[in-house]
Amino acid sequence: GQSGKVSATTTETAELDSPDKPRCLLLFGTQTGTAERFAKQLKAEMSLRYGATTNFDVVDAEEYDAASKLKEERLVIFLLATYGDGEPTDNAAELYNWTIKASAEEQDLLKDVTFAIFGLGNRQYEHFCAVGKRMHKALKDLGATPVGPRGEGDDDEDIEADFDKWRTELYDALDKCSLLTKDQEQPDITHVSATDGANPLNTVILSGEAATRVQQQQSSWNWGHPSGQNGQGAKPQDSFMATVQCVRELHKPASDRSCLHVELNTEGSSMDYAAGDHVGVYTINPPAAVEEAARLLNLPLDTVFSLEATDSSSSNIDNPFTGPTTLQAALTHHADLLAPINKAAVQAFAALAKGSSADKLQRLLSKDGAQEWKAWHRQSRCLLEVMREFPDVQPSLGAFFGSIAPKLQVRFYSISSSPLPHPRSIHITCAYIDEPTPTGRQHKGVCSQHFGRLKPGDRVSAFVRRSPMHLPQNSSNAVIMIGPGTGLAPFRGFLQDRASQMASGKSLGPAWLFFGCRSKTQDYIYEEELADYQSSGALTQLSVAFSRNGPNKVYVQDHMLKHGSELAALIEGQQTAHVYVCGDAKHMAKDVHKALQTMLQQHKSCSAAEAEAAIQSLADSGRYMRDVW
Ligand code: 2AM
Repeated sequence: GQSGKVSATTTETAELDSPDKPRCLLLFGTQTGTAERFAKQLKAEMSLRYGATTNFDVVDAEEYDAASKLKEERLVIFLLATYGDGEPTDNAAELYNWTIKASAEEQDLLKDVTFAIFGLGNRQYEHFCAVGKRMHKALKDLGATPVGPRGEGDDDEDIEADFDKWRTELYDALDKCSLLTKDQEQPDITHVSATDGANPLNTVILSGEAATRVQQQQSSWNWGHPSGQNGQGAKPQDSFMATVQCVRELHKPASDRSCLHVELNTEGSSMDYAAGDHVGVYTINPPAAVEEAARLLNLPLDTVFSLEATDSSSSNIDNPFTGPTTLQAALTHHADLLAPINKAAVQAFAALAKGSSADKLQRLLSKDGAQEWKAWHRQSRCLLEVMREFPDVQPSLGAFFGSIAPKLQVRFYSISSSPLPHPRSIHITCAYIDEPTPTGRQHKGVCSQHFGRLKPGDRVSAFVRRSPMHLPQNSSNAVIMIGPGTGLAPFRGFLQDRASQMASGKSLGPAWLFFGCRSKTQDYIYEEELADYQSSGALTQLSVAFSRNGPNKVYVQDHMLKHGSELAALIEGQQTAHVYVCGDAKHMAKDVHKALQTMLQQHKSCSAAEAEAAIQSLADSGRYMRDVW
């Protein structure tokens, strides 16, 4: 995706502290947690700057009812990531759709609202920061007044620097307008994370009976998952402990890559799902990384500790733990040790460095070090590598968990089964990420490794997230599925669904699958199953594009264009086909979109713009759905 990832709890309760103060709302739409982190950082800084007269509330866009509440706000700051092919993140989809729709219908609805926007994205993607841009326009169309510049953060370059620049300008603009009153007696702090990195939370090391109790609790299987990581669309009570039924390799022996099929048994939980939904997995760090991190922190793994705020300024820092925990559990479940490190984490780490380490790190973070930082960023160093590189920097547990270590994110997968044949089981199709980084580290995806270690009988904590991508309500409508690579996942679920429906006597419209992989002998996953669906009629047409079989690359969109007039007839004709695309957003989804446009243009003998409008109206009526990343 372009940026950010999941997480987050709502913090609307904050306003209860001083109900008499007006509030400034900080709404975030996040996929990897960056927008949420920025929102919290803004809240911390703005509370110091303007807190005497205003409350600052960070709210997950998903938890916010924009339709009824937005018009009553005074000042709203949006931090919105763009995901996939120019789309909002799942947690902000409702907010985004409502705003865009309302802006076409009303003009003065938000006339009393002032707003600022920081969009997050990645310039590697075509529709860079599209959500931030479109929201900015829609809010203005609704009569809201912008304050400060529209911000754009590029995750491919230095998103922290973009954020620094934008908020400095935002504070300048806010200082000049009458909405907020700057607190006179407060120091002017613009970089809370850097200055407070030293020791934001007190570490209380427990011993004796309390420690034993915590350790006993955590060694049992049902150790809870990180607080505040319940993911979108699911409340913590909706998550369940699943039992691993099987894990098997889907690639053929000739492949030098790997893709895992995982089956999770959900018996005993109240979980239900539909084909096309997502499953969120609370992944864990590999034991070797956990052990090394503890060694570098210079503490035994069985250290039992709890964290508490040291003073009022640190009460803004998120305490990731609800109670006492062991270092092993905290490092396993909470700290993101292996993902590319962000600048805020390095800043907090650098605040503790001394001597030559401090010089090196400070230089890296300084204006002059911008080029060096970019190189670091490109090398996608992880936290564990940085700790290894600077072993003399010894953070306390309070600094480590309170401000250095980003929190380990929930991983989402498109479920690759259907509840009709598998009511109590969820299947996952996971490409195993295992590639060298420029520093020579072999980067293995945290969740890939986690799945790779699983044995039947092991437990995994997970939850279901609803997706809008489902089979057509009217089962006689045609279904066109485009899913190369692991993009096949939800369509395997669709086909299972259709096979079950047919077995119970239902007649269904045609279903056409476009699948793509490198070669028949390497990564043609679920080949036999697809053949079975073809013979049973659940799948009426199968087009497979092999990209590395012959001298020329053949992709799914090449097959689509070859069958352009048939496809266009299915879409435009009586069979009112639904078109589904799943998989890579950077290249595939974009190219498939162009292919669709070309074929509709030819079929209707119209202009490219008219074909695009036809695709848009397909999307508006729920007949063009994408699940891309
Ligand atoms: P390639 O890696 O050989 O180029 C699943 O990953 C399949 O999608 C692979 O066969 C991959 O081909 C292919 N693929 C890569 N880029 C694509 C694009 N822009 N459009 C469609 N398929 C693509």
